[in-house]
Amino acid sequence: MAALIDGKAVSASVRAEIAREAAILRDKGMIPKLAVILVGDDPASAVYVRNKHKACIEVGIEPLQITLPAETPEDELLSLIDKLNSDTSVNGILVQLPLPKHISAQKVIDRIAPDKDVDAFTHDSVGRIVEGRYGFLPCTPAGIMKLLEYYNVTISGKNCVVIGRSNIVGKPMALLLLNASGTVTVCHSKTVDLPSVTRRADILVAAVGIPRFVKSDMVKPGAVVIDVGINRLPDGKLCGDVDFDAVSEIASMITPVPGGVGPMTITMLMQNTITAAKRAIER
Ligand code: GUN
Repeated sequence: MAALIDGKAVSASVRAEIAREAAILRDKGMIPKLAVILVGDDPASAVYVRNKHKACIEVGIEPLQITLPAETPEDELLSLIDKLNSDTSVNGILVQLPLPKHISAQKVIDRIAPDKDVDAFTHDSVGRIVEGRYGFLPCTPAGIMKLLEYYNVTISGKNCVVIGRSNIVGKPMALLLLNASGTVTVCHSKTVDLPSVTRRADILVAAVGIPRFVKSDMVKPGAVVIDVGINRLPDGKLCGDVDFDAVSEIASMITPVPGGVGPMTITMLMQNTITAAKRAIER
């Protein structure tokens, strides 16, 4: 039976450290501040934004929440970002995705000043991740790396398989594992005979967005299984991309949903905001 990777517990311990860092900054007269912009009324986004707000309060970061109507014109959002870029009291800027269809997410992201890009989504941040010269850490992949470190999972030399190639999770996850000397394979919807690839994984990361997609015959006995999925079932319950009950029988470690990767993502956002505030003080 697999051991549970407890994201809530690790998150609490990392957040306690972040709170200490925030208190030190406040003693120096720097109040770390995170601007979170939500455009429209996507219910899932509203929940994520609320959780980010709560986490800020918990660790001593000042949240600046800006909610705009769905019909906000693109140029208005770009002007708001310009304003936040030049506001020295703001350390980090996050625009919650997805954005309404008439707004180009890429254009908006690229408008964020690289030194306030706490999501690590701008070209500057992505380039640094490719080079292993991190500015800000991509939140979900960095949270997963923290979990692996906390549970003493060796990455160097291991077969690491990532299912999913999104810009937010799959691609940066593959890069962090590669930078940690894993042998990395990225699978996606066109991968031929997916189970034969995933069965080679010592560390398997599922980020596909399909409920219980990873079955036990896709997992190598003893593998460490990381589930990034947050899927809502028709009965309202949350479930991951991994068939948890069956895969738990053969994996050595596994993250639950909820309570695995999820809490770590927001924690790493808090960490990036502290990093931004520290750098602002040094300038
Ligand atoms: N939407 C889903 N995940 C994310 C994320 O990590 N950052 C932002 N800004 N939007 C998201």
